[in-house]
Amino acid sequence: MSKAAIVSMHVIRRLPSYYRCLKELQKNSVNKISSSELSEKIGVSESQIRQDLYNYGNFGKQGYGYDVIKLYNALKRILGLDKTYNTIIIGAGNLGQAIANYTDFEEIGFNLKGIFDINPRLFKIKIRDAKIMDINILEDFLATNKIDIAILCIPRDNAQVIADRLTKCGIKAIWNFSPIDLKVPDDVILENVQLSDSLFTLSYRLNEDDLFKRIKKEK
Ligand code: NAI
Repeated sequence: MSKAAIVSMHVIRRLPSYYRCLKELQKNSVNKISSSELSEKIGVSESQIRQDLYNYGNFGKQGYGYDVIKLYNALKRILGLDKTYNTIIIGAGNLGQAIANYTDFEEIGFNLKGIFDINPRLFKIKIRDAKIMDINILEDFLATNKIDIAILCIPRDNAQVIADRLTKCGIKAIWNFSPIDLKVPDDVILENVQLSDSLFTLSYRLNEDDLFKRIKKEK
């Protein structure tokens, strides 16, 4: 079991889209937005937004809407994006290298400190500032470097063993791309990412009209 959240995960999963929208508004020098405009932009009902934000304090005024900068700063703090984090990537294959090469994470405070792999041909290669290192030195590295988040980009067969090694070394957050249900201690936060879920949602949407035509016919 990974660490349970205080607020419902449904609420938490909506927060990044609120943050992105507020960031965009702020960039475009919008100072104030009505709750109905915000709702339309995000695609979440006004009352849902109000309820979600209410978990963290009082935002927005009746008849005024939301102060964009205030809400943007609040969401940044709520999402923990006002801090910086040290990260490592395990698995320097296609996915690991793609994530390592993505500079935007660094810009928002997720600093890549190292990459680990089992393939000796990759050792010593640097991706931006991060060296690819032998997975055998993982424990030594973690003993001397404070790492907040491990990003798992290895095949499923090895993922649990590596997750166990990471958590034994005190890693408290794993961003897992490996297609496996990892078991981690109760005090570890596990966030699984499956790009295919989003692709399947897209293919569902492509087929939804036909699906319901068929269902209607069969009724
Ligand atoms: P890849 O084969 O290109 O890279 C895997 C890398 O992991 C290799 O460099 C390999 O040497 C290394 N590796 C294997 N065992 C290791 C260990 N015990 N310790 C350290 N390194 C180890 O594969 P790719 O395309 O990068 O995918 C990696 C994983 O991510 C796969 O399990 C794949 O299914 C998954 N994946 C998940 C996605 C998602 O949306 N969740 C999207 C794409 C891939």
